[in-house]
Amino acid sequence: APLKVTKICCIGAGYVGGPTCAVIALKCPHIQVTIVDLNKARIDAWNSPDFALPIYEPGLVEVVRQARGRNLFFSTDVDKGIEEADLIFVSVNTPTKKSGVGAGFAADLNYVELATRRIATVATSSKIVVEKSTVPCRTAESMRTILEANSRPNCRFDILSNPEFLAEGTAIADLFSPDRVLIGSLQTQEGIDACESLKQVYANWVPPHSHCRPLVFRAVQLAANAMLAQRISSVNALSALCEATGANIDEVAHAIGYDSRIGPKFLKASVGFGGSCFQKDILNLVYLSESCHLPEVAAYWRQVVEMNEYQKRRFSKRVVDTLFNTITGKRIAVLGFAFKADTGDTRESAAITLIRDFQSEKALVNIYDPQVSHEQIWTDLQEASPLAPLNTIKKQVTICKSAIEACKDAEAVVIATEWKEFKDIDWEAVYASMNKPAFVFDGRLLIDADKLRKIGFTVTTIGRPSSTLV
Ligand code: UDX
Ligand code: UDX
Ligand code: ADP
Repeated sequence: APLKVTKICCIGAGYVGGPTCAVIALKCPHIQVTIVDLNKARIDAWNSPDFALPIYEPGLVEVVRQARGRNLFFSTDVDKGIEEADLIFVSVNTPTKKSGVGAGFAADLNYVELATRRIATVATSSKIVVEKSTVPCRTAESMRTILEANSRPNCRFDILSNPEFLAEGTAIADLFSPDRVLIGSLQTQEGIDACESLKQVYANWVPPHSHCRPLVFRAVQLAANAMLAQRISSVNALSALCEATGANIDEVAHAIGYDSRIGPKFLKASVGFGGSCFQKDILNLVYLSESCHLPEVAAYWRQVVEMNEYQKRRFSKRVVDTLFNTITGKRIAVLGFAFKADTGDTRESAAITLIRDFQSEKALVNIYDPQVSHEQIWTDLQEASPLAPLNTIKKQVTICKSAIEACKDAEAVVIATEWKEFKDIDWEAVYASMNKPAFVFDGRLLIDADKLRKIGFTVTTIGRPSSTLV
């Protein structure tokens, strides 16, 4: 019969594990939830008395405030967490491999494997182990093999796949009412029982009809993310055409979206998609296709990522072209550093690429983002230009405390993230403080270009031609 879960441990207190298990704790007061991580600074931040949590997500602080210390705990004692729990989520990072077979494409499963081996070593009672990271198919099988090869007598492991579909910035809303909950298991009685145990956890707040049948095809999440990213690359490819032909991408997208087969969502042209999932999942799909000897399929999906790289390149080139073909020594204010609004996450953020391009053109760059820490910005810029000493980078780049401060004495403002507050800046004051002619480049279709033109700005918007006549 299915086990009634009373203690959950989550290995990995990151963007997925943290919010997911905080919401489980909130919705299931009868279950004790402990989130563990090797990173002490991260755990300390989760435990901080003033709720200065390590990740920013609207609504997250309220969830943690209600549950922390009641039935939600954060700890660096990974072993204790494993030992006590009857259900363990594995939610560690799976970055793209940097070297070896499949470098640049395949997921690095080293962290998953290490966490799995730790479970095998430490567990003295039976566990349901749930794989939650974005990982390609067959990971659950590898985990099963490792756990079975190392288990002790009277200690059985049931492995489930439960991919997470939350989007950053709306993680809490997504977790409160998910479109779907997928749980995959072996089709043995034990596997079906384990699946039922996890379903009962979600049943505390998710209506049962959104629970899917056991999932066999583990690539569902890869496919979903690839289709979503493909929509953005398609609309971004059209944005280039709009700029060249004098159309307006927002109007085109709006019109296209009326077709119910296409739908209005996820059609916003931008300076390029980012985030920890899209690029990684597509590259995984490319790698998978190649391993299956399907080069045409691989090429098709690879093009989605290439279009995204092109979009970023194209945008920085447009900035240079518009500023009379040179930005050497010119000050450029970059507003937004996160990969999208309402998150402090910067992984694969288009802003990083833009700023690197501006740096290599020898511009001076001012950066402002309402949520990203200065330390994170320096780390990302250093990673983007590994050969440049940080001191040299710091000579070219200044991190500012407000948008207004960033724009002072600049030649151009570049909007890289669609933070709502950038809409409501005192643009008159910004204009007064800038060098003239003052340029604005909207990479997110965020601002009212006509309003800014009336103030005096020269405005360039993605997906619209450069001429001010249009
Ligand atoms: C994504 C998926 O949406 C989610 O279901 C999955 O679980 C994880 O990956 P996330 O990366 O957090 O979530 O954010 P998402 O909202 O999908 O945005 C990804 C990137 O695409 C961002 O850089 C965003 O700015 C960009 N984007 C999104 C666009 O440029 N245009 C759009 O219309 C939508
Ligand atoms: C299409 C557009 O749908 C229509 O809006 C436009 O005005 C003209 O072009 P049509 O070519 O008549 O219409 O048929 P459609 O239903 O779009 O199908 C086109 C092809 O795609 C068909 O061969 C159809 O079998 C195929 N198709 C469609 C699929 O293979 N899979 C699908 O999910 C949908
Ligand atoms: P994601 O976006 O998938 O949640 P993150 O990088 O934000 O990825 O979070 C993953 C977390 O997992 C990190 O905080 C990392 O320290 C933690 N982690 C990785 N390996 C282990 C491990 N073996 N034991 C405990 N925590 C781990």
